[in-house]
Amino acid sequence: MRSVYIKTYGCQMNERDSEAVAAQLVADGYSIAPSELVADVVLLNTCSVRDNAEQKAIGKMQNLAAEVRKARPNLVLGFMGCMAQSRGKELLDDLPQVDLVVGTQKFHRTGEYLNDIFSGKRSRIAEVAEESGSEATIKEHLSDAAGPSFSAFVSIMQGCNQYCTFCIVPYTRGAERSRSIDDIVDECRTLAGRGVKEITLLGQIVTSYGKREIGVKSGHSPFVQLLDAIHDIDGIQRIRFTSPHPKGYGDDLAEAYARLPKLCASAHIPVQTGSNRLLKLMHRGYTRERFLSIIQKLREVKPDIGVTTDIIVGFPGESEMDFEETLSLVREAQFDNAFIFKYSQRRDTPAAAMSGQLAEEVKEKRLDQLLQEINRIGAIKYERFIGKQVRILVEGPSRRNPARLTGRTECNKIVVFEGAPRHVGELMDVKITRAGSFTLYGDPAILGVD
Ligand code: SAH
Ligand code: F3S
Repeated sequence: MRSVYIKTYGCQMNERDSEAVAAQLVADGYSIAPSELVADVVLLNTCSVRDNAEQKAIGKMQNLAAEVRKARPNLVLGFMGCMAQSRGKELLDDLPQVDLVVGTQKFHRTGEYLNDIFSGKRSRIAEVAEESGSEATIKEHLSDAAGPSFSAFVSIMQGCNQYCTFCIVPYTRGAERSRSIDDIVDECRTLAGRGVKEITLLGQIVTSYGKREIGVKSGHSPFVQLLDAIHDIDGIQRIRFTSPHPKGYGDDLAEAYARLPKLCASAHIPVQTGSNRLLKLMHRGYTRERFLSIIQKLREVKPDIGVTTDIIVGFPGESEMDFEETLSLVREAQFDNAFIFKYSQRRDTPAAAMSGQLAEEVKEKRLDQLLQEINRIGAIKYERFIGKQVRILVEGPSRRNPARLTGRTECNKIVVFEGAPRHVGELMDVKITRAGSFTLYGDPAILGVD
């Protein structure tokens, strides 16, 4: 039996794609190798969103080719995902040791390509063409044997049509294409039948789900219709999604939080900058005022909602004043946490050619300054949980201290506590005793004692 090892870079979409490819290959008779050192096939599922993600994957591939292949000359090496898509055959030319390049619309054909390679029919394959219907091919999940599956990602759409000027995703993931509600509900039902309690819906811009394929019904966007349909599935207890776009965050979605108890009180809404001038140059399609009003509305509906965001520092032409606007937005929005990125020039994107590209030191300094602010606000928000009782879905042993368990609150905060392994996969109430850096510590034992 041949074995495969997939290493994933980047976002949850990539994690999900890797899982689906792994499950497809298992169905084809492969086993999942415990490490790259013993695999017959190693695939790197790549990210292109920032340059360092690409460099990491290329470095890894060179290392695999030089080191691991020495001991295993028949090892098959491949790239999949966003960098595979954007660089295509160029990767075969630049890296003579690479056997396979699988684009983002060809994941489901990985098994075929590997067959061709192993049978000697073809060698050095790069397949990156568009394929209609590919949005509905990411649906296989690994069985329980690969680990507990009480929480699952479900891909609902592919691609993005927003073309933010800094972003490479529309080029690597293609145009927006959505699966049908029935198809997604079927997948979620199957997962629920296997004991899955929490579903995270995935897409680059989920608020645009079904825009072309499905109409608005009684004031509900297709995405909200999908949430309603999944909410009806027995066994599913928590629903999350990532990422929405502020532009599509309509009242129907805000109101869904009040109407649908399974919809977790948490929202990751990328804002990118607090400067209206830059929002326009980024082609984001909203203003800071509109963004803040969305958050305000969400907090009216769900006062305890956890709100996180993505921010880019050092977009071309970002002045001190623009950056101050981002700082002030962060203070006004009171994010629970934020991912901050230094702007990275991406090939063929409009921002890469804009004047006013900033020096690395300026980006670095702004990143540090913003990080301090995010940490300061986060610490206050996390401390507010001390003494409170929260319901968590227990995920498994804590990474830092495997003797403890970790779980997540509805508002997506990590809670570490002492508990028995039998609680894994269960919803349980814990009392928060302490707050650390973006982590809460709890104790189920003292519940009801005070
Ligand atoms: N639609 C996806 C975006 C994927 S990229 C989503 O909303 O999750 C994830 C984040 O990476 C973006 O929100 C942005 O903050 C950041 N990013 C994208 N392109 C970037 C670039 N060229 N340089 C730095 N950060 C970038
Ligand atoms: Fe990228 Fe903007 Fe779409 S950040 S994924 S182009 S919404």
